[in-house]
This record gives sequence, C-alpha cells and structure tokens, in this order.
Amino acid sequence: MKKIPNINSKTINPSKISNAKKRRLLRLGKKQLNNSSITKIENSIITPQKVPFNQPPSPIMTSKTLHDLYKEYTLFHAETANQLPNFLKKFWKQRYNLFSKYDEGIFLDQESWYSVTPEPIAQHIALTCKHKIVIDAFCGSGGNAIQFALHCDKAFDLTILNINTTLKVIAIDIDPQKIFIAQNNARVYNVLHKIDFICGDFLKIADTLFADVVFLSPPWGGVGYISEPVYSLSMIQPIDGVELFNKAKSISESVIYFLPKNTSLEEIVDLSNGKKCKIEQNYLYNSLKSITFYYNVQNF
Ligand SMILES: C[S@@+](CC[C@H](N)C(=O)[O-])C[C@H]1O[C@@H](n2cnc3c(N)ncnc32)[C@H](O)[C@@H]1O
Repeated sequence: MKKIPNINSKTINPSKISNAKKRRLLRLGKKQLNNSSITKIENSIITPQKVPFNQPPSPIMTSKTLHDLYKEYTLFHAETANQLPNFLKKFWKQRYNLFSKYDEGIFLDQESWYSVTPEPIAQHIALTCKHKIVIDAFCGSGGNAIQFALHCDKAFDLTILNINTTLKVIAIDIDPQKIFIAQNNARVYNVLHKIDFICGDFLKIADTLFADVVFLSPPWGGVGYISEPVYSLSMIQPIDGVELFNKAKSISESVIYFLPKNTSLEEIVDLSNGKKCKIEQNYLYNSLKSITFYYNVQNF
C-alpha cells in the first residue's frame, strides 16, 4: 500500500463572498486553467481494452469462473502502462493517487482512469461528512463509496451502548460494468459488506430512496470540461446540474456535490438558498483538482 498524499482544502463561505471576490476567483480559475498542463483528450467511445490472453487455464481448471476471473483481471487491472491505450498512458503514474491499494488488485475500466475521485480527496470528503446513511448516486468504480464505508461510521461508534450504528452506503451506477468493478474494489478495501450496490438509473429510482445525505459525482462530460474557461452546471450529465441537485434534495436535505475545478462559483452560490453551506477547493500536490460543495451537511 502506498502512502496517501495530504490534500489541502481551501474553504469558502458562500454567504460571505462579495461580487468582487467572485470575479477574482473566476479570474483565478481561468488563470489556473491557462497554466494547466492537462491537454485535451477527445472523449472516445469506450470499448473494453483487448489484452492478449496468453495463459489459458489448465485442463484441470475446468471451472468457467476461474477462466472468467482471469480474463476480467487482465481486462481491468493493468500491470504496466503499456497495457493501457495511448490516450490513457499519462494517467498511469496517478494510479496510487486513485487507489493506494492499486497493486492489490484494483480494477479500472477506461472511463474510470480519468473519472474516479482521487483517494485523498475522497477520503477527505468522507471524513468531513458525519451522516449515517449515504447515497453515492454515481458510484463509478467506487472511489467515494469505499471511503464513505471506511470512514463515516467512526463518528457513530456507539457499540459500547449496544446500538447498531453501522454506516450504510448505497452505491448506484447505471453501468453494470462499473458496479462489477466497484464491488471488486470494495472487496480489496474490505468494505464490500458495508455497501449496498444498485445497478440502475439514479434519476428513475431517486423517488424510492431514503438517506441522510446524497453524494453527487455525476459525469462532467468527459475530460473536455477542462477546456471550458468556466464550467456551467448546465453541462453536467445526464441532466442539468441544478435539476440534478434538486432531485438529490428531494431525497435528503443534505447534499455533497463533487464538481469540476472550473465550475462557476456564482452558480454554486445560487444553490445555497440560505442554508449552511461550504465550498471547498480541493488541491492535490498544490494543484487544484476539484470543487466540493457541501449543502447543509453535518459536522463540517
Ligand atoms: C464521474 S463517474 C463517478 C466516479 C466515482 N465518484 C468514483 O470515484 O469512482 C460518473 C458515473 O456516473 C454513472 N452514471 C451516468 N449516468 C447515470 C445515471 N443516470 N444513474 C446512475 N449512474 C449514472 C457513469 O456510469 C459513471 O460511472
């Protein structure tokens, strides 16, 4: 297991941001974007990576499961950068930032290489939130769900009183492959038993869900978001980001929204609607990675 780097978070109280400050922050965001070394990658159609399958199971291993397991392993766990397609090779050196236990059998599909929340940021968000039942509405390969499962329940350790305080994480993704990958990754972190996985469309099942807090990490529209001077919530997928936020609020009065680093602060502030909120800029190795908006979240 590799050492997890520390992240720095700058906190902004939305109600105290003056218009002049908002403009300054927007300018700063633009400057950071201009200085960014990240180049644009076209969002290609994701197809499973073809890795030569050169070690067929021996005749004794007639179990199809073993055969499939090996095939899945070679499909989803790259052991060298060369096993990644060219457009993903530059993410290889980030692997321990994504999952410190990468070498222990972490799975990633192509989309996950650029969309998983880096572990130190996911850990920080989980430690900030002290709610008991968390819905991870867009769980992807499990970056956030695993950290919620690992950390949140510490705040509710009342086992001495014989109260069942086990944290529940409900992790949803529309893509069955992502659920498969996230379950594997949760097993690597030994938290599979703490997460209920649902393969489905969050927008369709939201009305049937209950939780203390909803965590939103929706698709930002591929890596192309980075080329926008200011990212608007209307660019969130699969629906407008304000609509999505309201959908989450219909489940719980507490929402955590994980957003691109160049998201319009004005639009985020507009979501706060007089509630206790916090906007965090998440830095990793002094580089701004993302914004996290905490809406009416306990214990920050
Ligand atoms: C940015 S990724 C989430 C990454 C995740 N936070 C992690 O750390 O691994 C967004 C995910 O949303 C999923 N998704 C897209 N539309 C969805 C929907 N309508 N309902 C549920 N999941 C959806 C995608 O399959 C993708 O895995």
